[in-house]
Amino acid sequence: MAATAAAVVVAAAVGGGLLLLARRLWPAAAAGKGSATAAAAAAAALCWMEGKTVIITGANSGLGRAAAAELLRRRARVILACRDLARAEEAARELRAEMGLSSRERGGGGGSGGRGELVVRHLDLASLGSVRRFCQQVLQEESRLDVLINNAGIFQCPYMKTEDGFEMQFGVNHLGHFLLTNLLLGLLKSSAPSRIVVVSSKLYKYGEINFDDLNSELNYNKSFAYSRSKLANILFTRELARRLENTGVTVNVLHPGIVRTNLGRHIHIPLLAKPLFNLVSWAFFKTPLEGAQTSIYLASSPEVEGVSGKYFGNCKEEQLLPNAMDDLVARKLWDISEVMVGLLK
Ligand SMILES: NC(=O)c1ccc[n+]([C@@H]2O[C@H](COP(=O)([O-])OP(=O)(O)OC[C@H]3O[C@@H](n4cnc5c(N)ncnc54)[C@H](OP(=O)(O)O)[C@@H]3O)[C@@H](O)[C@H]2O)c1
Ligand SMILES: *[C@@H]1O[C@H](CO)[C@@H](O)[C@H](O)[C@H]1NC(C)=O
Repeated sequence: MAATAAAVVVAAAVGGGLLLLARRLWPAAAAGKGSATAAAAAAAALCWMEGKTVIITGANSGLGRAAAAELLRRRARVILACRDLARAEEAARELRAEMGLSSRERGGGGGSGGRGELVVRHLDLASLGSVRRFCQQVLQEESRLDVLINNAGIFQCPYMKTEDGFEMQFGVNHLGHFLLTNLLLGLLKSSAPSRIVVVSSKLYKYGEINFDDLNSELNYNKSFAYSRSKLANILFTRELARRLENTGVTVNVLHPGIVRTNLGRHIHIPLLAKPLFNLVSWAFFKTPLEGAQTSIYLASSPEVEGVSGKYFGNCKEEQLLPNAMDDLVARKLWDISEVMVGLLK
């Protein structure tokens, strides 16, 4: 009995492994040509970003890095807003090498003269002081801001607090970006038409804005806290879209799907399960470039010009669940966030 069961498990594992392998290899091989044509088509309709300035938070890794590379390729001036300058400089060096940019390409906010520009700036979203310093520098140095991509995120970390005492996931994913966006709104408005892109997650559906314990002091559940922060991203987007009507500034939110990035750094996978996890993620997860497509689309496509307050996946609008459509909760969250980050005293 036990032997049969073991044999079945082994057979299933081997069979499953082969299936994964096939799934990964054949579509990839077949898509080689297809995606080249698609890339060519996209390039033909290419939304050049020449003369446009884009800020991407968390741009040294994963989705943010992939979006940075693509917008750079389209000749934007891209500001990598990162908490770790060493990691950011390293990503910038690699990106410059990939794009064939010279290493000292930076400037005072002017046009990009026919090629992309890359700028590294320090931004720790777990510190309101850092957010304020970052914005001060941007307002001093940049004459315009065409796109802000709120991409940085932290996922299911152990209970931690930000410098200002907020639960880390709510503090970084929501509150840090809330202050950042508000402090940059003037520049976005004076650069209109301009866009804000917010990276959320499908996991928002398990979230709820429990106003009685936003800092998880009564109870910390790391999955719930992540979902809550991603729900906050969507409610923030919808409320901001309402406030930005007729300003020429749009704001939309997206989920990227499941993507192979460094997001899972706080998740501990048992050593023995690692090979299986790696196989599954390699076979089924999106690459960062695939995952970043919706961010790039919302940042650059003429198709979404004037579109605001919507939720996207795979470059298409999607429907939201009721917990993300409650306008009263969105307003209340906005008001409380203003107080928490010290915009209203
Ligand atoms: N990967 C997925 O499957 C998936 C699914 C749904 C949604 N998302 C969302 O996608 C976004 C990007 O994540 P990713 O998957 O690309 O993960 P990632 O590779 O871990 O990138 C996250 C980025 O956020 C930065 N970051 C974290 N804390 C920060 C802070 N306090 N201040 C400034 N930057 C901070 C990280 O900086 P360091 O490198 O210095 O840590 C990193 O650059 C996140 O908002 C995430 O919630 C991802
Ligand atoms: C934590 O929250 C998730 C939903 O986000 C829920 O499914 C899970 O049961 C919760 N865990 C505990 C221990 O309450």
